[in-house]
Amino acid sequence: MPDNLLEAKDLRVAFGGGRDIFLRRKPTFEAVRGIDFHVARGEAFALVGESGAGKSTAARCVVGVQRPTAGTVTFDGKPLDPRKDHAQRRAIQMVFQDPQGSLNPRMTVGTMLVELLRLNGLVDSRPAARARAVELLEMVGLPESALDRRPRSFSGGQRQRIGIARALAVEPSFLVADEPVSALDVSIQASILLLLKRLQEELGLTLLFISHDLAVVRQLCDRVAVMSEGEIIEEGAVTDVLHHPRHEFTKQLLAAATDLPELKMRTPAAPDVVSQGKEPAR
Ligand SMILES: Nc1ncnc2c1ncn2[C@@H]1O[C@H](COP(=O)(O)OP(=O)(O)OP(=O)(O)O)[C@@H](O)[C@H]1O
Ligand SMILES: [Mg+2]
Repeated sequence: MPDNLLEAKDLRVAFGGGRDIFLRRKPTFEAVRGIDFHVARGEAFALVGESGAGKSTAARCVVGVQRPTAGTVTFDGKPLDPRKDHAQRRAIQMVFQDPQGSLNPRMTVGTMLVELLRLNGLVDSRPAARARAVELLEMVGLPESALDRRPRSFSGGQRQRIGIARALAVEPSFLVADEPVSALDVSIQASILLLLKRLQEELGLTLLFISHDLAVVRQLCDRVAVMSEGEIIEEGAVTDVLHHPRHEFTKQLLAAATDLPELKMRTPAAPDVVSQGKEPAR
């Protein structure tokens, strides 16, 4: 079993190109310019950088919705291709920035989870599916009554919990979270970060975490790579990069970091502050 669950080598993504209606060559724009990174099993690895740095594009390659122009990505020692490889598709799940946009507004949370579990053959009856859905909600600190409600009726933080429950439904080993808290208020951000941290530890998940905020990364991640204009310009243990930033750009990111309070977890099994319903519905 390779130590690194994910390995990207010389990953490149270019947009544009081709010909316009007058058959003139359109310019290409390289959003990701030959980056190398790896994520060790059980590790939380962050890609940080300014808007447009290429973080989401790199993340989209990992979940298989963006085809790289060049380079290789391996997952668990095999070439990454979640579009074709069903096991990889299940193993790698994504948590989005905007849970509202990524949840079907017409489906109740229960129907969404039950369908997902049944489609993936993870349960053999409806009652079993419902019981598992309740368990998933419990894992993310939501009550059973959430099953019968639609996404619209939840607060932003609660919706993000539903997004996390959905990602966990298929029992992934690798979670890609693209700015999962940047649309939330600072107080709610902390609670979602705590939840991710607790789940990562309890379920032994490996995490690729995307953010523009080094304060958020500090709470959750072991290692960080700083991206700028499609390249990785600095990489290392989070504590090293935060205390001894080498690149001017990293210093600027640090200066712009949110003032988040230090997160403290209680015992792993105990619910954190969050789970006790402190997020009001909007
Ligand atoms: N489908 C696309 N077609 C053309 N250009 C794209 C496409 N997707 C992304 N880009 C461009 O690639 C660059 C990197 O975008 P990307 O979304 O990866 O940045 P990001 O680091 O995630 O930024 P943000 O923090 O704002 O989410 C940007 O300049 C963006 O405009
Ligand atoms: Mg992005």
